[in-house]
Amino acid sequence: MARPEIAWLPGDGIGAEVLPAARLVLDAAGFQADYLPGDIGWAFWRKEGTPLPDRTIELLRSTDCAFLGAVTSKPDPDARSELPERLRAKGARYSSAVLRIRRMFDLYTCLRPCKSFPGNPGNMSEGIDITILRENTEGMYSGAEWDKIPQELYNIRGMERVPRQAAITIRAVTRKASHRIAKAAFWRAGKGPRRVDAPGGGRPGTGDGRRLVTAVHKANVMRATDGVFLAATREVALEHPEVGYEEMLIDACAMQLVRDPRRFDIIVTTNLFGDILSDLCAQLVGGMGFAPSANIGEKYAMFEPSHGSAPDIAGQGVANPVAAILSAGMMLDWLGEKERAAALERAVAEVIQEGRVRTPDMGGTMGTMAMATAIAAKLRKGT
Ligand code: NAI
Ligand code: MG
Repeated sequence: MARPEIAWLPGDGIGAEVLPAARLVLDAAGFQADYLPGDIGWAFWRKEGTPLPDRTIELLRSTDCAFLGAVTSKPDPDARSELPERLRAKGARYSSAVLRIRRMFDLYTCLRPCKSFPGNPGNMSEGIDITILRENTEGMYSGAEWDKIPQELYNIRGMERVPRQAAITIRAVTRKASHRIAKAAFWRAGKGPRRVDAPGGGRPGTGDGRRLVTAVHKANVMRATDGVFLAATREVALEHPEVGYEEMLIDACAMQLVRDPRRFDIIVTTNLFGDILSDLCAQLVGGMGFAPSANIGEKYAMFEPSHGSAPDIAGQGVANPVAAILSAGMMLDWLGEKERAAALERAVAEVIQEGRVRTPDMGGTMGTMAMATAIAAKLRKGT
């Protein structure tokens, strides 16, 4: 790829604070790109009645990938109450900008690695290296919701179990989406370094160091939707005998992640479960400040820290930029800049290990840009 064009979307709160930090590190890595700023977030909802203006969608269409800070979102009545009368009268309804982008560009893999960097005081234990692949386009986030059930639905068999007056959300799971997220998981598993010395032990089918994919579900209750998900995952597992495969119920998985996080390797799951588990895993390795993510489709991708706009710390310059910086590393990797991506991660690891520069979430007193500057300096030195 010639000089890539990147849609640069700071967004709200600390999103706009961690992006300059990520940029500093990308520059220090010697990465050359055009960064094209785009409008997204709460300010545009209040001014224009949408957090994702059409011009931003056009920008995404014309670029190679996007890098996002964070977008504030609020439940419907609160969101509408902040609109000027003129837009309220038009019936503007808030819908999540991030979800829209994921669906519009079919960014079906949400990739969320959680690694315990040695020396991070927030690690629950050392040796954690979990990657979550969360299906990103359907499941509980299908967007089909009613706050009052349409009358026609009551004519369907089974609906008598649903109380009148209930609000409902449709959980949509297709074989196609399940199959492709499973493929992405097994592809990663096969590709990753072999962890012969993986700690934790007791990995079914991984005695020779093969990597392990854990499919997380609740098929004993949500038989239809998770039945489809598991059937697709098993089909892909059969094509990859070189990779360990197991299935785990979501509740048991949450418990196991806290009890013995090192036994996990790659987790593949549906949208909502993946959203929840990825925050859980983030906390195992120091919190949201250490959780990068990538939303990847066939042709386009958007990289973003997993955290939100963090209104509780926004405006103070103290947000941990590591999640955004590691997301930038994932972007380099996706763009084919493998060596720069690896160097970036080494620089992050070294700064954490040294422990001289720590943001408040790590128990330190340094700010966002101080952390980024330390990481950039390591990169320039070529560690
Ligand atoms: P959040 O991720 O913004 O914050 C959760 C907690 O983690 C807060 O205590 C915050 O201070 C801390 N935290 C987050 N990132 C941090 C960092 N880099 N360094 C240090 N501490 C950090 O989640 P919350 O509070 O539930 O949501 C705030 C807003 O962000 C909401 O409007 C929500 O809708 C939005 N949000 C947006 C996301 C996105 O743009 N992809 C993702 C998650 C939430
Ligand atoms: Mg989340």
